Amino acid sequence: MATPTPHYPLFERLFRHAVAVDLGTANTLIYTDDGGIVLNQPSVVCFEKQPTSGSKRIAAIGVEAHQLLGRAPRNLEAVRPMRHGVIANFSAAERMIKQFVDMARPRSLFSRRAAFTLCVPAAATHVERRAIREAAEAAGAWKVSLIGESLASALGAGLPVRDATGSMVVDIGGGTTEVGVLALGGTAYSGSVRVGGDNFDAAIISYVRNLYGVLLGEQTAEHVKRNIGSAVHDVPLEQMNATGRSVDDGLPRTVQLSNRDIAEAIEGPLRQVIGAVKRGLEMAPAELVTDIAHNGIVLTGGGALLSHLGRRLSEEIGLDVRVADEPLTCAVRGAGAAAAAGWVDEVGGA
Ligand SMILES: Nc1ncnc2c1ncn2[C@@H]1O[C@H](COP(=O)(O)OP(=O)(O)OP(=O)(O)O)[C@@H](O)[C@H]1O
Ligand SMILES: [Mg+2]
Repeated sequence: MATPTPHYPLFERLFRHAVAVDLGTANTLIYTDDGGIVLNQPSVVCFEKQPTSGSKRIAAIGVEAHQLLGRAPRNLEAVRPMRHGVIANFSAAERMIKQFVDMARPRSLFSRRAAFTLCVPAAATHVERRAIREAAEAAGAWKVSLIGESLASALGAGLPVRDATGSMVVDIGGGTTEVGVLALGGTAYSGSVRVGGDNFDAAIISYVRNLYGVLLGEQTAEHVKRNIGSAVHDVPLEQMNATGRSVDDGLPRTVQLSNRDIAEAIEGPLRQVIGAVKRGLEMAPAELVTDIAHNGIVLTGGGALLSHLGRRLSEEIGLDVRVADEPLTCAVRGAGAAAAAGWVDEVGGA
């Protein structure tokens, strides 16, 4: 299908920069048509309480603020404003977006009053969508469009979403897993579960606590997952040490963990992800499922980087599963492509 030529009023054309924002639970990315990915930072902001005025100053943001999570001194408060793909703390989200936009602008010189396209999970409510719009407007956006995260991810992964053939994309983020079936430029089915990479980390923490009586920090658990995490049990043994606090005496203790331990630890949340994919195949229109059976499924989002996830899913559902190139940036690149082509409001608007 041909890409429609966008018709913009003169004023809009003068200021038209396609700025796409993926405001994720774990990471925020900004993409512009001329600069590519101009910002890629953890969605964390750290405030310093001002004892005299009671107001809060931003002390750190992004990578720096992420390092302070769980380590911040008393006068600082590290906050993750997003939960499960939607805004959980509006004032923090608003200030975080504003600051990220200011950090990104010099890299592509987009106008502060640019038109923004933001990714939203399909399951976001009307109120949650309005909050995302308002936060972007407060950051200076002149016009805000929303695009479903599945559609954006599928576009970014290079799937032929404008064809009549059905495509399935599974985006596994920090806080949500979204399953989408796309055809003719629209979303024929979308479903999501509030389970993502953060839940894998939490499952590792609870496993190590129950088995060894050692409490790991969130960042340590994530580090273990990225290093030796596995979605299958039958893998050659790999081990690493992780240090946490003994629940008995509160002193630091190091435990040796294997990839098989981690596979067992994350089995619960992993089953929920697999369940969401199976549900998508049951619920999507039959013709499109036939197409998916031929073409396979594509995984996007940071969770797709978990070792052997494609193989595990493929064994469970009996279809080909592949991980997209650069899965962490698919959604923002797809949203940027949709915005640049001028068809976000036409079919992708959410
Ligand atoms: N190599 C890896 N192995 C396993 N998990 C990984 C790896 N790299 C990143 N992740 C996980 O990916 C998740 C972040 O992915 P992503 O940036 O796509 O999420 P998000 O878009 O911010 O979240 P959401 O879409 O749920 O709002 C984190 O939980 C992180 O631990
Ligand atoms: Mg995401």
